[in-house]
Amino acid sequence: MNDTNGIAGYEVVKSLRWVDGGLVILDQTLLPVEIVEERQESVEQVWDSIKRLKVRGAPAIGIAGAYGLLVGLRPFVGEALGAFLSRVESTAAYINSSRPTAVNLSWALKRMVAFAKERAPKASDSAALYALLEEEAVRIHDEDRAICRAIGEYGAGLIKPSSGVLTHCNAGALATSELGTALAPMYIAHSRGVPFRIYSDETRPLLQGARLTSFELKQSGLDVTLICDNMAAFVMSKGLVDLCIVGCDRVAANGDTANKIGTMGVAILAKHFGIPFYVACPSSTVDLATAVGDDIEIEEREAEEVTFFGARRTGPEGVKVRNPAFDVTPAGLIAGFITEKGVIKPPYSENLARHFG
Ligand code: MRU
Repeated sequence: MNDTNGIAGYEVVKSLRWVDGGLVILDQTLLPVEIVEERQESVEQVWDSIKRLKVRGAPAIGIAGAYGLLVGLRPFVGEALGAFLSRVESTAAYINSSRPTAVNLSWALKRMVAFAKERAPKASDSAALYALLEEEAVRIHDEDRAICRAIGEYGAGLIKPSSGVLTHCNAGALATSELGTALAPMYIAHSRGVPFRIYSDETRPLLQGARLTSFELKQSGLDVTLICDNMAAFVMSKGLVDLCIVGCDRVAANGDTANKIGTMGVAILAKHFGIPFYVACPSSTVDLATAVGDDIEIEEREAEEVTFFGARRTGPEGVKVRNPAFDVTPAGLIAGFITEKGVIKPPYSENLARHFG
């Protein structure tokens, strides 16, 4: 299972794999204590794995969605082509209902459905169409590897020797095919021998920064220091942070950006301390159909994620709880978007449309 993540010398577990025509995901809810892979036997299981964050991170759930569609279709190979094609649409809609904020999920599923519609008239039967869809899902996965690498190459130059970089949540190998988005520049800079420190916010309530980011960076030998979310201002005030890089789940046409809850606070702090705040993302996360951040649907999750710390209750039973999984950082706080097409600078309405329209 331990496979290189695309740079010689790094050993990062894979978030998901397509093995012998089946989807295998790493159950990220068990990290960093246990490394357990789980084969997805049904589309309902895939839906549940995305919902419960066994597989998570915007690009990874896009890839899981594309493969999950195949998991849902496979039992129906042999069906008449017309019925199979409408099953492609209904199964994609079902998977898409698992999580609303990361646009990569709907992006990948729309791409699979459009591909099926385009190819169906020329396919001899549902088995032939399924085979073509499998190739398309593998292409989505392969493209993500190349995109992460390109983001890493463009972003690595931002990391100067002896600097401190702060990140929030997990936008690393575990959130993508490999390397990550926000963490890709860090892996590339490190592989080139640039010495620098990383501060990883723990990221309450589900601790993706503690459980996942510090896990994968430490496993790869990068210099990572884990801090609680409320320590970010302190480390910034001590001059320990020169740069922030985070990932994202959806970028609106004007550059407003949804990412894990707490990201907006980091951006506000960065502005206060004069620290450049960058967002790393693939083009599949840019949603030009959403005009502004206020139009992004924010996932609200279970109260228990807030009233419990792991298995231990930390909030009184019955207390009122809010648990938005994401917040929206205003475009004005973002120094640039590190993408596979280069680092995009303001004005975002103009420059995002030009590169991603
Ligand atoms: O709820 P999660 O863990 O799926 O949230 C993930 C994030 O917010 C990541 O920062 C984002 O998806 C970018 S992943 C490259």
